[in-house]
Amino acid sequence: MDYRRLGNSGLKVARICLGTMQWGWTADEKTAFEVMDAYVEAGGNFLDTADIYSAWAPGNPGGVSEEIIGRWFKARGNRREIVLATKFNGRMWGGPNGDGLSRGHVMKAVDDSLRRLQTDYIDLYQTHWPHYDTPQEETLRALDDLVRMGKIHYIGCSNEPAWRLMKAMWISERDQLNRFISVQPPYSLVKRAEFERELEAVCLDQGVGVIPYSPLQGGFLTGKYRRGQVPDSARAEGLKRFFTERNYNLIELLDSLGRQYNASVAQMSLAWMLQRPAITSPIIGANSVDQLNDILGCLEIALSEEDYKAIDAASDWKEN
Ligand SMILES: NC(=O)c1ccc[n+]([C@@H]2O[C@H](COP(=O)([O-])OP(=O)(O)OC[C@H]3O[C@@H](n4cnc5c(N)ncnc54)[C@H](OP(=O)(O)O)[C@@H]3O)[C@@H](O)[C@H]2O)c1
Repeated sequence: MDYRRLGNSGLKVARICLGTMQWGWTADEKTAFEVMDAYVEAGGNFLDTADIYSAWAPGNPGGVSEEIIGRWFKARGNRREIVLATKFNGRMWGGPNGDGLSRGHVMKAVDDSLRRLQTDYIDLYQTHWPHYDTPQEETLRALDDLVRMGKIHYIGCSNEPAWRLMKAMWISERDQLNRFISVQPPYSLVKRAEFERELEAVCLDQGVGVIPYSPLQGGFLTGKYRRGQVPDSARAEGLKRFFTERNYNLIELLDSLGRQYNASVAQMSLAWMLQRPAITSPIIGANSVDQLNDILGCLEIALSEEDYKAIDAASDWKEN
């Protein structure tokens, strides 16, 4: 496993981050332990979760992914070897302050996450998405206080537009506060514009690490979705808008180029992403050790310039 510094911090993270949104949703606790064990066995050290995971699943009140990770830390005694990232902003209790990025919310949300995770610190605490009712100054000041209290070590953000990330950098510098070391945008070969239009340049310029989520677009970029062929998956319904001729052609290209590398469609998709200079660690989801092992194979692939460009062209998003 290769490791990279997360943004301009000294924190070293594995080049593939293991997402855990599926724990207590599409993967039970036993499977979760098996997948996390296999990931660590392969050299992985970087887990991503969120307080809200996965409240949309039937019978899941939220907080279940953090609880499963907490029990795994306890069982394995490996807390200090793992870089644990979690997020806040999701609705975790009733009333007008039960979600959001206010000081009032975050000071309680962090203690709830620490309790569920059975730990006394979070390595990377991230804002889950923007909350336009809270001044960015308030959130950044509260997060800075949490760093000073030792409850969190670094701060990051997710789903932020470029202008707000740039404004956050400016506020942190002006007020001498800890700054975001990473951003977590949605990004995949079939969803490139949101990140590449402006955010990518900000990250490169400001030394902000990029840990893209859903890099396989929820499984669409694994090769099991083909024209007229939809696998049995809880994710399939939400992927319908990607079922286009252009995207199926892209999958066929990844498949045919992949034969030269003895690589799967998932591995080719991630190999393309890892070759982009801004990218620190894509956050993948795996429902089984087999899926994880397939994904980790991407780390062995170095695409030729010609193949990289062919994939780039087939998934290009820029208008004239
Ligand atoms: N910040 C945010 O707002 C946000 C939002 C979403 C996710 N995230 C983070 O990103 C992580 C990853 O998101 P994601 O689950 O959407 O990532 P993804 O890697 O794009 O998709 C994962 C899904 O693809 C399928 N899959 C994975 N490997 C496969 C393989 N080798 N062969 C066949 N199918 C395979 C599995 O679904 P099936 O088995 O059901 O097909 C799996 O659940 C989450 O766990 C979370 O930590 C963050």
